[in-house]
Amino acid sequence: MISKSGGLQIIGGSASEALTIKVARELGVQALKTEIRRFPDGETYVRCLDKVDADKVAVIQSIYHRPNDYLIEYFLIVDMLKDLGVKRVYGVLPYFAYARQDERFSSGEAVSFSTVTKLIEKAGTDQVFTIDAHRHRVPDIAMAFKIRAVDLTAMRSLAQHVQEKYSLDNPLVIGPDEEAERWASHAAEQLGCGYDILEKKRLSDTEVSIKPKRMDVRGHDLLIVDDIISTGGTMAETCAALLNKGAQRVLVACTHPLLIGNALARILRAGAEDVVGSDTVPSPVSYVTVAPVISKAIREIT
Ligand code: R5P
Repeated sequence: MISKSGGLQIIGGSASEALTIKVARELGVQALKTEIRRFPDGETYVRCLDKVDADKVAVIQSIYHRPNDYLIEYFLIVDMLKDLGVKRVYGVLPYFAYARQDERFSSGEAVSFSTVTKLIEKAGTDQVFTIDAHRHRVPDIAMAFKIRAVDLTAMRSLAQHVQEKYSLDNPLVIGPDEEAERWASHAAEQLGCGYDILEKKRLSDTEVSIKPKRMDVRGHDLLIVDDIISTGGTMAETCAALLNKGAQRVLVACTHPLLIGNALARILRAGAEDVVGSDTVPSPVSYVTVAPVISKAIREIT
């Protein structure tokens, strides 16, 4: 076991290399270099190339697109750090996959969210940070873990970016469904305007129907916000419905731009002026970095 010199180091999995460097720079600490690769049989190899000599290490790994590979990397990194004598490991999982399967909707289903949270704890994580985690039925991410867990938000940074770039006139923030209320309220607070939420009914994995509520959107520039854009169905339907109701302009923002298939084109075709996302998931619209949000949260506990 190495004797530790105190302090903090940051290490990233292959899902979040650029974000890891940005966070390390913000905090003025070392981003540990790694070698991460797959063996020909598909197994994952992880090696830290720098000396791990801090008491505390933050592991940054977003769990998008190849969730199973990225989770295994995360487990290997955390266990390696603990094995090397790190006292506290902070798991920063900006996009937290498997959160949507947080219940047994049909008999016999695995409650994947619960399985993943248990594995994260078992690997040796001491504290978890997520960003705008999808938690429709879990009011607070802390309730999903036995260890301390904090859900951060990128919504204020996203709203600020949209305002700076598009100078919204008479803005109004819209959440496509009830669950988006918390994100709509953060964005509205940042813009100093009101917000409303709509009624969404999921018809299939890729199709939804949206019913506008009472609020009159005529004469407003709208910012529609959500945690995730996956197939783009939700945002496309929302844009179309609101433009149909007389909205002046529609901008779209989300924390996690998964943008599966033609999601971006689908939303633009529905009339959105632009789509803005964060770098929890690297994408063509990841204009906003969550590095300051993560750095602030880490600074507060170290
Ligand atoms: C679901 O409730 C989420 O908050 C998002 O609205 C959803 O994941 C978006 O999915 P899609 O882009 O496929 O409509």
